[in-house]
Amino acid sequence: MRLRNLKNKEELLENCSYLINNPEKYQGLWNEEVFKNNHPIHIEIGMGKGSFIKNMALTFPNINFIGIEKFDGVVARAINNINENIPSNLRIIKTDAINLKDIFDHEIETIYLNFSDPWPKKRQEKRRLTSKIYLDSYESLFKGDKVIVQKTDNTDLYAYSIVSLNDFGYKIVEASLDLHKTDIFNIKTEYETKFSQKGVKINYLKAIKK
Ligand SMILES: C[S@@+](CC[C@H](N)C(=O)[O-])C[C@H]1O[C@@H](n2cnc3c(N)ncnc32)[C@H](O)[C@@H]1O
Repeated sequence: MRLRNLKNKEELLENCSYLINNPEKYQGLWNEEVFKNNHPIHIEIGMGKGSFIKNMALTFPNINFIGIEKFDGVVARAINNINENIPSNLRIIKTDAINLKDIFDHEIETIYLNFSDPWPKKRQEKRRLTSKIYLDSYESLFKGDKVIVQKTDNTDLYAYSIVSLNDFGYKIVEASLDLHKTDIFNIKTEYETKFSQKGVKINYLKAIKK
């Protein structure tokens, strides 16, 4: 994700009340100590500028949402974006998704993967967020049924994800090659808005593993 540099990046990161520093210390305690309720927790990996996760949090006040993003600059941009009308059920973590196994312990209900980087070369496969390496690392995050929801403009990544999820024991329970033509509930991300304005169709899947 390309972004202009924010001049006040450090200040935004330091003063953000909903950015969780040292998230490892809440492993197993997210409901009890962070949200102080028993509502389900949903996460978006690679939240970019954060409008999806913020709007989800505003739409579903009885679900807790956490946006995950690995780059400082992108997190700062998201905070800058979110900073008005902040939902009380929203938190942000700055980390790479591969570290999530040290941050959550059977606490997550749903993972959203929106417009994840496709990493098209074969040698880049292990970086794809639906590769076996990542699916393995998500196993201990989930509480109960494991739910992954993916949206992407990229048909190769979409096809790859279907095979990878299926090989890993997930069942695809909902899918569309043109999400905006369906009545599936949808909140658009920044990338989604950009792509659909160019006429690109959005691929969607929801996968569940018991
Ligand atoms: C193409 S952008 C999509 C942003 C947003 N989800 C959207 O749809 O508008 C992908 C984002 O995922 C982040 N990302 C990629 N790999 C990641 C990882 N392993 N852990 C955390 N964030 C990651 C990138 O930094 C980038 O901000």
